[in-house]
Amino acid sequence: GLVWLVCFIVGHVFGSIPCGLWLVKAAHGIDIREYGSKNIGTTNVFRTVGGKTAFFVLLCDMMKGILAVALVAYFTNNAMGGMVAAGIGALLGHNYSIFLGFKGGRGVATGLGLILYFMPKVCIASFGVWLILVLLTRYVSLGSVVAAICTPIFAYYFGYSQPLVIFAVVAGGFVVIRHAENIKRLLNGTESKIKQGNAKDL
Ligand code: G3P
Repeated sequence: GLVWLVCFIVGHVFGSIPCGLWLVKAAHGIDIREYGSKNIGTTNVFRTVGGKTAFFVLLCDMMKGILAVALVAYFTNNAMGGMVAAGIGALLGHNYSIFLGFKGGRGVATGLGLILYFMPKVCIASFGVWLILVLLTRYVSLGSVVAAICTPIFAYYFGYSQPLVIFAVVAGGFVVIRHAENIKRLLNGTESKIKQGNAKDL
């Protein structure tokens, strides 16, 4: 009950840290929300200012969720319910950030980090699906949506416990929901293919 709520809130605060917005602002002095897809995630950082900053955004967005769950694990002696609550909190924090008036990202990197922490085999499988699709089509969003749908299926298939399968359903579900605009663009052929940007060209 109350303990889970506290875990969820801890996760939400960590997840809320808008790594993409703050790192791009610090490194390049621009607001990433005014460029490209206007998204604060790794993909839009990559297409706007390039791979180096994008790498650090990916790392930070992955780590913030892992950190929240590891903290809860430490203080609750690995209570799985609390850890999953913190994980869901972190994802929702990234998507609906307290620092951005409850706006935010799509939850791909933060979800990837959490899946790596909870279910490393699923992480490898889902990342494989993502990578193949992105290399074949150059649509990052397509890779993210399909990998998100595959994630709970992999979690179930690899025999993870029920709370973790539920986590995978929630995490994958939110990634799909947050890609609504991308899915529309994919369907009408206006989604942009990925290409590395350079801060010098801004
Ligand atoms: O992780 C988000 C990615 O799937 C799509 O990003 O910036 O192209 O909307 P973007």
